Amino acid sequence: MVLAEIAEEVKKCTLCELFRTATNAVPGEGNPEARVMFIGEAPGWHEDKQGKPFVGNSGKFLTELIESAGLERDDVFITNIVKHRPPGNRDPLPDEIAACAGYLERQIAAIDPDVIVTLGRHSMNRYFPGERISKIHGKPKRFGTRLVVPMYHPAAALHNGSLRSTIEDDFKQLPRFLAEQDTERDKRRQEEERPEQGT
Ligand code: URA
Repeated sequence: MVLAEIAEEVKKCTLCELFRTATNAVPGEGNPEARVMFIGEAPGWHEDKQGKPFVGNSGKFLTELIESAGLERDDVFITNIVKHRPPGNRDPLPDEIAACAGYLERQIAAIDPDVIVTLGRHSMNRYFPGERISKIHGKPKRFGTRLVVPMYHPAAALHNGSLRSTIEDDFKQLPRFLAEQDTERDKRRQEEERPEQGT
């Protein structure tokens, strides 16, 4: 399976220096056929210890948010922009993000999700460079057949009352974005099946 192959490569990765200080690589986990894929920032202390994404406090909150959208954690795929923990939880550096980008691209291609949710600034920058999260959170943008929705990072929202209700409201829109994707897919199918006009 492609995702398992990518995970094995990530575990052996030496493309940047982060592997030297990390305990475990965190390739990501979830449903290989997920319709929704979440991209966070980088593994933290708990994730580094367990080799799994979003298993600490912000992970618990993320699971609640996923469930509030009528989904289960097992339905979705969760990964990060960088797959090894930066020392002391510092921000990932641009060359670390660049070194790790190929893994993320291959994960996205293998899963082919309908909706990608970016969590926080670093993953937002991949799709919306130069934008401000406070301005564009919760607003989906179409990239080919996919919708990409920038959202606040759960860790930022966890202890801030107003951000918390903002991220909760943004997550509650996910079923609507999935329904929009169903409609778009039906339209594409109908167009493919329609006989050529005038022949
Ligand atoms: N924060 C992230 O961005 N990713 C994790 O996996 C955990 C915390």
